[in-house]
Amino acid sequence: DAQKRHDRTIALVGLMGVGKSTVGRRLGQRLGLPFADGDDEIEAAAGMTVSDIFARLGEAEFRDGEARVMKRLLEGPPMVLATGGGAILNADTRALLKQHAITVWLRADIRIIAARVQRRDTRPLLRGKDPAEALRAMAEVRYPVYGQADVTVDVGGGAHAEAVEAIVKAL
Ligand code: S3P
Repeated sequence: DAQKRHDRTIALVGLMGVGKSTVGRRLGQRLGLPFADGDDEIEAAAGMTVSDIFARLGEAEFRDGEARVMKRLLEGPPMVLATGGGAILNADTRALLKQHAITVWLRADIRIIAARVQRRDTRPLLRGKDPAEALRAMAEVRYPVYGQADVTVDVGGGAHAEAVEAIVKAL
């Protein structure tokens, strides 16, 4: 039943720009669950933007902080959680996700994602690169990991509301 389905955190995984934050926020509203965004939580904890953490402290430091934030959130009460695109690559985070969450891979065509991320400059891993190319290289490494998610939802280029309904149906 609905209660039972939502006694675990619902963690959205997938490439940057696929819509995890926007869809996650709406999904939380739809299910009456609190919503948290991993990147926002890291920024709040560090008192710096993700870009600044990468620039000043480096990616390794960012990943350590990300894993700590994921642990805190995943060990807390059920919520909808938008994870940063690389969070699930950490083995500890992966174990915690397995233990505490239902994972949902939001998947979309790389070209759609590339068009989306081009409009914003908040992603250090894409800086100075052709986004479609960089995303494709990331997909090669990450899709096998995202593919282990409990549920995969193709979000395509459609409206976020459609993605939310597709997830609710798939849960
Ligand atoms: C990253 C994704 C970003 C952010 C950081 C690294 C990644 O999060 O955590 O720039 O490695 O894919 P979003 O997926 O929310 O953009």
